Amino acid sequence: MCGIIGYIGSKQALNILISGLSKLEYRGYDSAGIGIITNHKIKIIKNKGELTNLINKLGDQKITGNLGIGHTRWATHGAPSSLNAHPHISQNGKIAIIHNGIIENYLSLKKELESKGYKFKTETDSEVIANLLEYYQHSNFLISIQKTVKRLKGSFALGIINENYPDTLYAVRNESPLIVGTTSNEQFIASDIPAIINWTKEIYYLDNLEIAVLTKNQIKFYNIKLQEIQKYLSKITWDNEEAAKHGYKHFMIKEIFEQRKAIANTINPRIKNNMPLLDINITKQELNNVNKIYVIACGTSYYAGLNAKPLMEQLLNITTEVDLASEFRYRQPLIDNNSLVIIISQSGETADTLAALRLAKEKNAKTIAIVNVVGSTIAREADQTIYTWAGPEIAVASTKAYTTQLAIIYLLTIKLANLKGKVKKKELINLVKTLQLIPDQVNEILTQNEKIRALANEFYKEQDIYFIGRNIDYYTALEGALKLKEISYIHAEAYAAGELKHGTIALIEEGTLVVSLCTNKELYPKMINNIKEITARGAKTLVITNNKDEVGDYHIFIPPTNPYFNSILSVIPLQLFAYHMANNRNCNIDKPKNLAKSVTVE
Ligand code: G6P
Repeated sequence: MCGIIGYIGSKQALNILISGLSKLEYRGYDSAGIGIITNHKIKIIKNKGELTNLINKLGDQKITGNLGIGHTRWATHGAPSSLNAHPHISQNGKIAIIHNGIIENYLSLKKELESKGYKFKTETDSEVIANLLEYYQHSNFLISIQKTVKRLKGSFALGIINENYPDTLYAVRNESPLIVGTTSNEQFIASDIPAIINWTKEIYYLDNLEIAVLTKNQIKFYNIKLQEIQKYLSKITWDNEEAAKHGYKHFMIKEIFEQRKAIANTINPRIKNNMPLLDINITKQELNNVNKIYVIACGTSYYAGLNAKPLMEQLLNITTEVDLASEFRYRQPLIDNNSLVIIISQSGETADTLAALRLAKEKNAKTIAIVNVVGSTIAREADQTIYTWAGPEIAVASTKAYTTQLAIIYLLTIKLANLKGKVKKKELINLVKTLQLIPDQVNEILTQNEKIRALANEFYKEQDIYFIGRNIDYYTALEGALKLKEISYIHAEAYAAGELKHGTIALIEEGTLVVSLCTNKELYPKMINNIKEITARGAKTLVITNNKDEVGDYHIFIPPTNPYFNSILSVIPLQLFAYHMANNRNCNIDKPKNLAKSVTVE
């Protein structure tokens, strides 16, 4: 949800801002803009649409200056337009801001400022921030920032420049993510690491209501009382190589093919003597006291979380509820200190998921987060965090983050089951051994890419596609349908196969494509019945299965594994299918319309 970057140093800010924005487009791409202090004046250029439109507008203009801010937008308040694009400037033109987040009380602030003679030019909530900073002008600009921040309700990560301080970049955040990067002679702010990793791997994570004051050679941090504070410097251990396309047409297909490595990286170092080695502190007594597990997430992470239910209930004998964070946070869940809350998030910044985590902590539940982005807010706030080592995921549609989340769910459950001692150790060891086969099995499925591409060539003009499955296969069906709709814009729905005849079968017509997941041997006869019911009504069925009995019209075979682990394999053909369908339809695969990778607003 919007990406921000800022630079102060001895290089030309413009190039750094544009390069940084190109790495942040996954956060929003309906307009982009930059603001640079050039000859003591703020110069702003912005344009509607993707970053390339801004680059085209800039043309050969050389906006010189060593201090600047840049923004790529995912519209919340006000249509995506050049006018509503950031940076926003105060009425006197001396202060410019970039904002990621939502100012919930902007209407009352706007009214108040209007009554004092301020005129607003845009429909955004963000413009009030620039005008408040001007309204509270003070010889010490930190006091203006402090007074402004105290008036804001909602979420914000802000980069601020002021013509009166042409050598200083200011930043402050509440809820929305913001990092500060440093070298000896240049400083950066950004929403995320890939934007600045080409220039520095030394970063500070700004916490809520902390202010950073950056000059060419130094950074100072203050709390909201304006007392100077010391912050811990973190070092990033990966580089941008991992975030480059390397000859693939899209990040999504590159990330699909990276899954063997990502899953291996996530599980192999965490297995010792055939048992999971996860850095989670929970005693047998504490685990025995847990009477309910809640797994909370949004989007694809939620579909990964659904897989925890059968595993945890069977291996731990603890009732497990899986909830959407946006629902959980508003339904007054019955959590207490005997609840274990597992939070799943690729970005570690999703606003609803973060709110759910905070609610769980407020109620004294034990919290464990499964997160991909190191140092993200959820990773820092949870009692304990297990990282998926998927590496940076750039495509908006999640693939390798999902499969590595599943891998951690499996490992965590086995670890807890070993601690609880209700399941025989031999059985757990077998599960671990089966898990270790997964990376190569993923590769085996990836070799069917051409076959899946051919299927997509046949079906890419479909209008509606249904996905069905039972139990774990149903969860995979949900993820398969989501993948397809989010990148190809084909209407896709997933149903529990047993529910089909309670309504949805009315939508099945001659030629409708139904993707059927059949990976559970015990439920296979039930699925065959469902497939027959569908084909009897003229539908075509594409069956994803590990069983060689050929029922249905088209088949993709996946290798057998333990039934608990089927999703991590059966999702791979669905990812490839969605990708090739979208590619045939010439969709903007890595940046689907209206979506963003990191959803930092409710
Ligand atoms: C957005 C992304 C999805 C992601 C969801 C949850 O909608 O487009 O790919 O699954 O947010 O994000 P998280 O970072 O919390 O996993």
